[in-house]
Amino acid sequence: EKGGYASFMLKEIAEQPKAVADTLLGRIDGSGSLMLDEVRIPANVLREVDKVVIVACGTAFHAGLIAKYAIEHWTRVPCEVELASEFRYRDPILDQQTLVVAISQSGETMDTLMAVRHAREQGAKVLAICNTNGSTIPRESDAVLYTHAGPEVAVASTKAFLTQLVACYLVALYLGQVRGTKYADEIRAVVRDLASVSGAVERVLETMEPVRQLARSLAGKDTVLFLGRHVGHPVALEGALKLKELAYMHAEGFAAGELKHGPIALIEDDLPVVVVVPSPRGRSVLHDKIVSNIQEIRARGARTIVVAEEGDDAVVPYADHLIRVPVTPTLLQPLVATVPLQVFACELATARGNEVDQPRNLAKSVTVE
Ligand code: F6R
Repeated sequence: EKGGYASFMLKEIAEQPKAVADTLLGRIDGSGSLMLDEVRIPANVLREVDKVVIVACGTAFHAGLIAKYAIEHWTRVPCEVELASEFRYRDPILDQQTLVVAISQSGETMDTLMAVRHAREQGAKVLAICNTNGSTIPRESDAVLYTHAGPEVAVASTKAFLTQLVACYLVALYLGQVRGTKYADEIRAVVRDLASVSGAVERVLETMEPVRQLARSLAGKDTVLFLGRHVGHPVALEGALKLKELAYMHAEGFAAGELKHGPIALIEDDLPVVVVVPSPRGRSVLHDKIVSNIQEIRARGARTIVVAEEGDDAVVPYADHLIRVPVTPTLLQPLVATVPLQVFACELATARGNEVDQPRNLAKSVTVE
């Protein structure tokens, strides 16, 4: 049932364009309004929301970190993101005007479930973003928006992550719609961009051979670092998590701006550093800053692996390896930028002789705290 692929993980990586498209399907009407009737929290309640708190674990937490940028930018409602395992034990401030969004592929993660229960006890409304129909987290939440990734078998999350991002963007737009900060034409434009990202993911998948070669050449390394800014920061964290869990390598993701506050001391000769570069269009200040970060680490000997948009020439002189991704609006870039990092981790793990579908010590759903 691996459909000709060597692993479920490879199959699920390849299914991402469809998973993204399926998660959008039927959720926008002809006039450009989001139809999220399945989100049974009434519009008047959503209009009163004065804070969004996202809780999740692991890869789903990284989706939440990206969602924060979209929610705050599109709705102007403050948004916090917290690891579900930390949330409950710090006495978080929650009330009827708090919307808690719980993100979980399995819907069974105990830490996330406990966070949901705690939030509801405090009177907060809970919306689950979940991939598994009828699982515990959606059953215990006030509402659910399902991701349509289809069953994810490989332990490492790939297609579920991309669909979690899509669902988060939809929730952000929907909140904007009911609160009046996002109008039909703007929503339609973003949804159009989202719809075209599915094709962009397809194109990324067609250009992965150099990434696989690079990954194989790094199989003997001990450490890989990942850097990003803005939504590229959670992408860097996700790239590092994939490498830890699959290749059993030391991998860390940093906000590129934090380099000089410590991590730059780690840079040594030939250390591979993956840098996720934001689009040079739009907020170009972010782009310029990260180009200087690449120069800084390269001057100290790093081997730079640069993930940058097609046509971004400024990075070329500083990239030892260049991975191109299609032009995408900044907030949506994680949908394309994450894919090469999944392929990179999967191939590196295979080159090291690891079983990618069942990494050691891990389980697909973590039902203990
Ligand atoms: C990483 C991974 C885990 C899960 C985490 C949450 O590849 O799969 O980090 O993302 O255990 O699981 P769910 O989404 O089922 O709550």
